[in-house]
Amino acid sequence: MKIFFRNARIVDPSGKYDGLFDILIVDGAIQEIGSSLGGNPVNYEINLRGKLVLPGLFDMHTHLREPGQEYKEDIASGTAAAANGGFTAIAAMPNTDPVVDSADVVKYVIDRAKQSPTAEQAGLVSVYQIAAITEGRKGVKLSEMKDLSEAGAVAFSDDGSAVTDSQVMRLALEYSSMLGKPIIQHCEDHALTRSGTVNESPKTIEYGLKTQHRLAEELIVSRDIMMLEAFGGKYHATHLSTAESVEIVAAAKKRGLPITCDVTPHHLFLDDGVLSSYDSDYKVNPPLRTKADNEALVGALKSGVIDAIASDHAPHALHEKEVEFDSAPFGMIGLETTVGAVMTGLYHTGVLDIHAIVRLLSINPRKIMGIPVPEFDLGARADLAIVDPDYEWTVDPDKFKSKSRNTGFKGRRFKGNAVGVVNGDRFYFSDRLK
Ligand code: DOR
Ligand code: ZN
Repeated sequence: MKIFFRNARIVDPSGKYDGLFDILIVDGAIQEIGSSLGGNPVNYEINLRGKLVLPGLFDMHTHLREPGQEYKEDIASGTAAAANGGFTAIAAMPNTDPVVDSADVVKYVIDRAKQSPTAEQAGLVSVYQIAAITEGRKGVKLSEMKDLSEAGAVAFSDDGSAVTDSQVMRLALEYSSMLGKPIIQHCEDHALTRSGTVNESPKTIEYGLKTQHRLAEELIVSRDIMMLEAFGGKYHATHLSTAESVEIVAAAKKRGLPITCDVTPHHLFLDDGVLSSYDSDYKVNPPLRTKADNEALVGALKSGVIDAIASDHAPHALHEKEVEFDSAPFGMIGLETTVGAVMTGLYHTGVLDIHAIVRLLSINPRKIMGIPVPEFDLGARADLAIVDPDYEWTVDPDKFKSKSRNTGFKGRRFKGNAVGVVNGDRFYFSDRLK
């Protein structure tokens, strides 16, 4: 199988092939990168004039919902959505049914992803599994982290909930050092958030919604940093949402602590003003904050305090979201809007250049999880995303490959989107690639 890309603007973090090249891929490996290649017959020849070729994107925070909640999403639909969004690899969160807290379930998901859904599409997106920190994600008893690690888990998280018990957290951090795999904390002091569903601000109080205070996040970030300092560990704070959280992380990094963190597109570009609509697609955890928080998070991307952008793709069925705001589940989908949101809000605005975006969406999240980073090198396995930076589109969830439709970006105009991926000998080219 030969794929030939002409006039590709390669974005190569190593700098070696950073520029306009032709690329010849043979049986899933990069055979040639050069100028004016060609001549030999190939299966696909595509002119990529005006398109960017990036190292395949990696989403370190995806909810695939398999096993147990396949009506929301499954490995087949979730990986199809990922490929459609430019991701060649994802890490799946363990808050499934059953919870991924045993070696058997870790192996089950990894094996399923290799076969699913058809032989042709299997392996299009590499699926990595995150295992639970505690049994049943109950926060009480540590899971068998060593067994889970040996079964293939790349990281540990009770996402959806925080580990608030300090003794459990201490043990988790100590094991993370031993295993060399990160603890990914969903930072929330549940005693403080209680049944709150939205950010506590003058706006949301006016809307009459049940609120959670921003300190609920910041208290856990602060405590975890103190624990990291005392006990060591590999620690990552996911979906940070407040200006103070990133300030706290910045100070810790300044002291030399090995903390990393990520942010979602919705916390970067949506604020709690949208809740005047009472639309539960805007109900996420942590909640959407204020415009000032959006700006602080963008600033922290620019300064390098935030290491990664992660989608927190959280699919939920229509019937679950179409209930009273208080009863709806938290979460919005993100795999198919991340590139559009990032290109529109960070690239075309001049906040970040394309190399910074590649670090945030491809290189750093892999490094955090100890996953090999794609390289543009002769003989290397092809692992790349094709992005059309000028593709203008309106977000229409009905066009998504995901089974779910719950996105707060619906109806938005974006400039820029993924148009294809190559992952070894598997590839996907969207209709948008013209
Ligand atoms: O919005 C969210 N949805 N936040 C979480 O922490 C969990 C996630 C989910 O699983 O739906
Ligand atoms: Zn979470």
